[in-house]
Amino acid sequence: MASKYQAPRGTFDVLPQAVLLRDEIEATALAIFGRAGYERIATPIFEDTELFERGVGRSTDVVRKEMFTFEDKGGRSITLRPEGTAPICRAYLEHGMQKLAQPVKLFYGGPFFRHERPQAGRYRQFHQLGVEAIGSDSPAADAEVIAMLDELLKELKVPGVALRLGSLGSLGARTAYLEELKAHLRAHETELSEDVRERIEINPLRAFDSDDEGTRGVMATAPTIVGRLEGEDLEHFRAVRSYLDAAGIEYSIDETLVRGLDYYTRTIFSFVCDELGAQSEIGGGGRYDGLIEQLGGPATPAVGWAAGIERIALAMGEREDAAHRDVFVAYAEDDRQMDAMELVRKLRQAGLSAEFDLAGRSLKGQHKHADRVGALVVLTFDADGTLQRWNKRSGDRVETSLASAVDEALRAKAEEAS
Ligand code: HAM
Repeated sequence: MASKYQAPRGTFDVLPQAVLLRDEIEATALAIFGRAGYERIATPIFEDTELFERGVGRSTDVVRKEMFTFEDKGGRSITLRPEGTAPICRAYLEHGMQKLAQPVKLFYGGPFFRHERPQAGRYRQFHQLGVEAIGSDSPAADAEVIAMLDELLKELKVPGVALRLGSLGSLGARTAYLEELKAHLRAHETELSEDVRERIEINPLRAFDSDDEGTRGVMATAPTIVGRLEGEDLEHFRAVRSYLDAAGIEYSIDETLVRGLDYYTRTIFSFVCDELGAQSEIGGGGRYDGLIEQLGGPATPAVGWAAGIERIALAMGEREDAAHRDVFVAYAEDDRQMDAMELVRKLRQAGLSAEFDLAGRSLKGQHKHADRVGALVVLTFDADGTLQRWNKRSGDRVETSLASAVDEALRAKAEEAS
């Protein structure tokens, strides 16, 4: 009978058969991060609400509508982290990391929370893997982090991936453009959705992201920031492109690309996957040269990205893997259970995965269970006191001894792996 309790809306349980794929995604990412000299950082799951209001931006959907915010017993306003970049910049400042050799290269992974309308690929608790390179304004840093996500998705053989690249210019240079964009929006105010109209003054760039048909029509003729880049911004963007070209990373320039968080400056990018539905972005990020200053620190250029583990898994086809054991130890008579347990202990100590029956199954039932768990070798204490070894792959069934069973099982595993 189903329990009357269910996981909260927008959340999910990761069941054992789904864990192996997630582990593989994480292990692949960790190896790539490690090879590139990025070090792991872990920040709290919750932070002071103000960090996200200042860092992510009060005009963003994330801060306006999607945060899980509550008052703690001390009357402080606390928010479950909706993203990882602002917390990492907070930690960078709090621990004086500006005194370390720059850039400080960090990676992270874990759960994040946004109160969004749930749909395929969009959850209220989801998991990100991300990197941040803090303290370098070199376009090579942009290219390095982009190359890492590119490598991750290629190594995992995620199908149908495309990289979109854009630039928002630096904060100062953007002001003139934003005025031009606002004028365009005001001139077409009646054709815009209510949401976009309300935010002409505070967040005009978001109009590029609207699904509303009227708004899309207006944006088709809107001035783009990429078309207006000049001076050092233009040079920086060109340099990022030439590093990507040199690395053989394919991309398309998307003049209308914008992102949902306010801290971005200059380079922004998005890896999309046509295997995913409406939530087609697997991962993305960009430069955020003004964020650390916004949080009260010195001007510090930085660049990074985050990717959603659930979206990578969805794009890979949500494989269900069956775990397997190296050895199953069966016993014909109950009085051999202790011997079975002792043999299992020795097998495990030798580095093999091994199990024995804990459910009072008949010998036939135990052999069936050995198949169910995908055991490579089945060792059976027979009724006559002998130990039988059954190699499930080759079909060999021979009598063996306690003295040699562990070595033989190790050999069977090595043969299987070769
Ligand atoms: P973001 O674009 O908000 O960026 O999220 C990054 C990724 O997290 C998305 O591409 C998507 O794969 C995943 N994601 C976001 N929201 C959800 C959701 N509700 N359900 C499932 N997956 C989701 C950031 O969070 C920035 N901190 C990235 C960054 C790092 N920029 C610079 N450094």
